[in-house]
Amino acid sequence: MAIRSQIAGCGSYLPDRVMSNEELARRVETSDEWISKRTGIRQRHLAAEGQVTSDLGFEAATAALAQAGLTADAVDLIVCATSTPDETFPATATRIQARLGMTRGAAFDVQAVCSGFVYGLAVADNFIRAGQAGTALVIGAETFSRILDWDDRGTCVLFGDGAGAVVLERANGAGNAADRGLLSTHIYSDGRHHDALYVDGGPSSTQSTGHLRMEGREVYRHAVVRMAEAIDTALEANGLTPGDIDWLVPHQANLRIIESMAHRLNLPQDRVVVTVDRHANTSAASIPLALSEAVADGRIREGDLVLMEAMGGGFTWGSALARW
Ligand code: ACO
Repeated sequence: MAIRSQIAGCGSYLPDRVMSNEELARRVETSDEWISKRTGIRQRHLAAEGQVTSDLGFEAATAALAQAGLTADAVDLIVCATSTPDETFPATATRIQARLGMTRGAAFDVQAVCSGFVYGLAVADNFIRAGQAGTALVIGAETFSRILDWDDRGTCVLFGDGAGAVVLERANGAGNAADRGLLSTHIYSDGRHHDALYVDGGPSSTQSTGHLRMEGREVYRHAVVRMAEAIDTALEANGLTPGDIDWLVPHQANLRIIESMAHRLNLPQDRVVVTVDRHANTSAASIPLALSEAVADGRIREGDLVLMEAMGGGFTWGSALARW
């Protein structure tokens, strides 16, 4: 019998406030046409004043636990993927832990920017397989609006705020690709690419929060190559081919990147979960937000093979394959 992490529930949360491309075009020199043609983004959600990352993460975690039919005392581990923590320390995960009323186990953050959710899945899955946790909450929660330079049209149009979460539960199974649960995770990083995507501040360097800086073309070029490699590795590791995949749930950064991954897999667009048009890039939250939507509306069903992939600052990248 092989140990597997099964996905017992997922949930998400988006702040009420929506900012359209047209509204953004009144603040900075851009247009709906430029943004939607280049990225597919039409609007983004923004956290309210005083609403912090843990508030968003708490709502998503509560929804995921409800779908799993569990309460917080069943949870052994919380892994929160975020690059926009409430405070430098403690971990945003511990703030969510306290609000959930969970007084045992462990809670900590992982920081892999837009790949954070895939990293979080990898960490929690390994804890479960090692027998160190039975039930884990993996949360992606971000308030990127707080680290944007709202005068830089090259970056401020691309991001939004939100949160998503999944509950993983230890399950025994045959351990083959037909088995339900996480089949594999693959994570990578290459720190030489720091300058292509970073935040120009931090407690140890500038003692300020700083703003996101990005060389868009460089990121784009690496994203398509690296994510394709991570997809190939996931399929190979499980003895599967692109034709086996039922759903691609990619990190939502840019519709052109998403379409090129789908094309490579020969997947029709109606087998790709897309939320970037309404959410923009919510970094670590984007995959669990997309997953939650496709599970809630009945697209992703039990037994479906779901492929997730992401790439972010660092650079970091990776993939996760799950039998739902
Ligand atoms: N509105 C209007 N014009 C703009 C805007 C804007 N919002 N932003 C840039 N421009 C202008 C530039 O100034 C430039 O003008 P110039 O030719 O007069 O100098 C022109 O548009 C072209 O700029 P580029 O940056 O070369 O545009 P590009 O076609 O590369 O598109 C984009 C930019 C959309 C950022 C693209 O490079 C991209 O999607 N990169 C991937 C970045 C990404 O997804 N990052 C997210 C984090 S990592 C991740 O999640 C994968």
